[in-house]
Amino acid sequence: MTPSTSYNPCVLLVASANGSVGMSAGWAILSAGGTALDAVEAAAREVEDNPDDHSVGYSGYPNLLGQVELDASLMDGQTRRAGAVGGVRRFRHPVSIARAVMERLPHVMLVGDGAERLAAEVGMEPEDLLTPEAEAAWREGVNGELKPEDSRRRLLDRVAGLFADPEHVAGTVNFLAIDSRGHLASAVSTSGWAWKYPGRLGDSPVIGAGNYCDDRFGAAACTGWGELAIRGVTAHTLVTLLSQGAPLEEAANGAFAALSGLDVPGGEPIMNLVALDREGRHTGLSSQPGTAYVAWEEGMSNYVTLPRRVVSIAAR
Ligand code: GLY
Repeated sequence: MTPSTSYNPCVLLVASANGSVGMSAGWAILSAGGTALDAVEAAAREVEDNPDDHSVGYSGYPNLLGQVELDASLMDGQTRRAGAVGGVRRFRHPVSIARAVMERLPHVMLVGDGAERLAAEVGMEPEDLLTPEAEAAWREGVNGELKPEDSRRRLLDRVAGLFADPEHVAGTVNFLAIDSRGHLASAVSTSGWAWKYPGRLGDSPVIGAGNYCDDRFGAAACTGWGELAIRGVTAHTLVTLLSQGAPLEEAANGAFAALSGLDVPGGEPIMNLVALDREGRHTGLSSQPGTAYVAWEEGMSNYVTLPRRVVSIAAR
């Protein structure tokens, strides 16, 4: 069945293509009348568990020092409450830690030791997230083993080389949902750029950059170069354009246009987004050809894979 492109409020789950492994878990919740927030969290957890996805959760590619550092956020469109975590090294479900931040603390974002403390306090089990496969790729990617005592200069040189390794730098999962009560939610989870500088946070834990959601207008989430989405406040820009009356595709174009002219340090900028409006229209954009997103809405027996519209970013 072809997804709707006209006004059609409905239960809906949208994700980046690597979210396909989580679609059934999310749809089971939505189709049983569950909440959008539960659906996006459950769906993201499936991707975080997927050992074949080296851009999210367990088996994510590590930083320059070989340490896996996970980031995630989620947002409730009804209340506009949000939770986010960054630099999580020992817990495979940062999206659930982000939810605990949102629901159990008067905060929005925790990083590092604080995020891990909360994870342990709410009963999550720590574990080693670096798989042999990810470790082997890291050794090859950084061309040898780096240790924390390596000089600052050497790490800086390595980071500059990331732009020559585009196959490894992008990746992240996005989920957006509308539930049977018409409430929206969004979730993003990532291990960030492979071989990133230790402590680096991308857009995924930054509400407004990699993730934004508002019942009144719509939701958006990003994958690709987090640094661009932070500087362009991309998810919030899209939802703001919806709030000003722009149709979904126009709002998505506007969010990409806001990235134009940004000075980027090297390589071809990679940016992707998925978005929906409150009536259930959805879209996916990418700066690169040949990419896809997935969507599942009422009346479908399974999700469909859809091409993203290619929109170039005229970065400098
Ligand atoms: N988009 C994910 C990141 O840059 O970390």
